[in-house]
Order: sequence, then C-alpha cells, then structure tokens
Amino acid sequence: MLDQPMTAPPAASARLLETLETIESDSLLALIAMANADPRPDKIDVGVGVYRDGEGRTPILRAVKAAEKRLWDEQETKAYLGGAGDRRYTEMLRPIVLGRHADDARIMGLHTPGGCGALALGFKLIAEARPNARVLVGTPTWPNHIPVIGAAGLEVSRYGFYDRDAREIRFDEMMQRIDGAARGDVVLLHGCCHNPTGADLDDDQWADVVRTVAHRGLLPFVDIAYQGLGRGLEEDARGLHLLLDRCDEVIVAHSCDKNFGLYRDRVGSLWIKTAAEKSSRIAMDHVLQIAREMWSMPPDHGAATVRIVLEDEVLTADWHVELREMRDRIARVRARIAAADPRLAYIGEQFGMFSMLPFEKDQVRRLRDEQAIYMADSGRFNVLGMADAALDRFIAAIVGAMNG
Ligand SMILES: Cc1ncc(COP(=O)(O)O)c(C=O)c1O
Repeated sequence: MLDQPMTAPPAASARLLETLETIESDSLLALIAMANADPRPDKIDVGVGVYRDGEGRTPILRAVKAAEKRLWDEQETKAYLGGAGDRRYTEMLRPIVLGRHADDARIMGLHTPGGCGALALGFKLIAEARPNARVLVGTPTWPNHIPVIGAAGLEVSRYGFYDRDAREIRFDEMMQRIDGAARGDVVLLHGCCHNPTGADLDDDQWADVVRTVAHRGLLPFVDIAYQGLGRGLEEDARGLHLLLDRCDEVIVAHSCDKNFGLYRDRVGSLWIKTAAEKSSRIAMDHVLQIAREMWSMPPDHGAATVRIVLEDEVLTADWHVELREMRDRIARVRARIAAADPRLAYIGEQFGMFSMLPFEKDQVRRLRDEQAIYMADSGRFNVLGMADAALDRFIAAIVGAMNG
C-alpha cells in the first residue's frame, strides 16, 4: 500500500491549521521588504535596526572575524554544550554586565539565544514565581516587549514614557506609576539607548527610579541590548548597577548582538539576582527547565566568538576600538542632524541607534512615496540607517516634511 502514489487525502484528514486567522505581519519587517523592493537607487532605509558605517554597510567587526577564524581552526567538536550554553562566555561577560557587582555570588547568568531569548526566559520565570504579577511598561517601547510578556502569561500595564511632540521623557508620569505599583509588580526598564525613542534617563532620574523601585518592593527587569553604543560600556550600565546596589532581586536581559555586530548569530544572556545564593541557584534550575522546553540549548557560534574575543587581550582591545568607532559615529551623525534645525536639537542629546520624529503617518508615507525614505509609521528612525553621502538629502527631506 505504502508505495502507491497518494491521490486525494481521505475525508478524515486533519484540517486543524486552516482555522488559523490571518495576522498583520510585523510592520517593521514589512517595511524592510518594501524598501528592498524599491528600485530607486537613492532610497534611504532608516527603518531597519542595524548599525551602518559611513558607506552604508553593516560590516563584520575585525575582532569578530579574527575570533571566527580561530574558532574555525581550533574547534574540535560540535557536541552538545548543555542548557546553559557556553559557560565560559557568560563568565567572561560577567564583569562587563555587572561591573562592581561581578563578584556577587548571588547573581547568576546563562547564555541565551539573543536578548529576545533572555527576555522570554526571564518573563516566564516570573510567571512561574508569581503568575499574577503585572509588568509596568513605558510606551512607546520596543514592539516585541508586549508580545513576549503576553506569551509568558503576564499582564502588561502601560504608562506613557515619552512625549514625542514635546520631545521629552514623561518622568512625572513614570514615577507616579512606579510609586503606585503593588508590591511584587515588575518594572521593565531599558538599560540604555532606549528603543524607539533614544531618550535615556539621566543619573538623577535613575537614582529616583531605583529608590522608588526598592522602596515599593518592585522587581526591576532591565533590558540592556545596546551596551557600549550610548555613552560607554560602564556608563551604559550605570542605572543597572544602581539597581543592583539597592535591590535584592533584579533580572537582566543582555544582548551582544548589537555591540559585537553579531545580529544573526543570536548572542544573549540572562542574569538573575536574588537575596541569597541558594535561591538564585533554584531560580537558575527553573530557568534551565524553561529553556529546555523552548530551545533546549542556545546556538553556540556567536557566543563562542564573543568568548574568544574576551579571552584575548589584543582582540578585546580591538573590540573596544571598534565599539568606540560605532559610538563616535552615532554621536557625529546625531550632532549633524541636531545642528540642521532647532526643532531637531533634541536628537543630539539622545543615545543609541534610534530617535523619533514627530511625524503623522501621512508625512511618513509621503517621505516614502516622494523621497524613497523609509521609516516606521511611528516616526522612529535609525540614526545610522544611511551612508554619510545620503545624510544631507535625509536632513533636507525631514526638515521639508516638518515645514509641511
Ligand atoms: C530594546 C531591545 N531589546 C531586545 C532586543 C533583542 O535583541 P536580540 O537581537 O539580541 O534578540 C532588541 C532588538 O532590537 C531591542 O531593541
């Protein structure tokens, strides 16, 4: 029977999947596809969230390329590593993420598939410990935060973080909401280079947030996906380190996908601090169990590459140089945009790859149709999305759009 060609399936054949409803595709992915399909040679894609150099390329870092060559030469097996992934990678990353807290044995970390994997694991862990916890999320935020928290089964409680028209953080509203949260609620905070606004808390604001979070018995969850691309590796983790000073429990989702330019290799880590080493160990056992259900173990290549860079003084020094070059380019482009018009001055005071322009959807569409400039409908744009040669045209187009 089995070698006979199949013709029509039997009437009882499964038809479960055809009940699925159409979903809107991720609007940013749709935007990338639209930009790719645009034949205009001078198109500018500031929608996509990757670093681009002066020539408009997203190069592989020198230190990364050298480490990959070494990995290719020296790696002797592809045997399974286990659920915690590359433990040496996590160990090498420890001082970078934790700074002065690196020796605190109550803080434990593990290798995850990107920052996304760390976020998913962290929120699922919270859902196991406290299924009715609410997660305070300032909006706008990175669009994937909301579904990741929802997929863990936790309730999201939004507050307005940023006033796009006034071009400033709604700090009073933020503090009011944090101060009014119930003990055991979770506060999601961007460690640095806020996506999508570029608006980072200053030192005084961090101090206020940390004091209130600790005082109200809230659990801070820090998403730090751009460490080193704002003010510097240590400076970008300053808020996180203040939280570690004051709070018994902290969760951190970290990514090396941006600061090592390893995007597609999916390199992240999750860090958990509890009040006692024993409870951190138990929490890590839960995390490993959750990871086992989701991806079993993280992909090795990217983390092994980061490990090789960080184990080698020369490669680490070169990585620092390359990170500084990326950071300096971000600052330079921001300064040029900011100097073009007083209404754009705020862009010079923000950090990281993104900022928002106070455009309505029809202005964004017009920029796309008439100028071949692609940005998210929210007005979010990647400050580094264009080559140096395209910057003047970009600035002229956005100033023109602001003038109506
Ligand atoms: C704020 C924020 N968190 C987390 C991530 C996830 O990073 P990864 O690519 O390492 O999963 C991103 C990626 O764009 C991000 O912008």
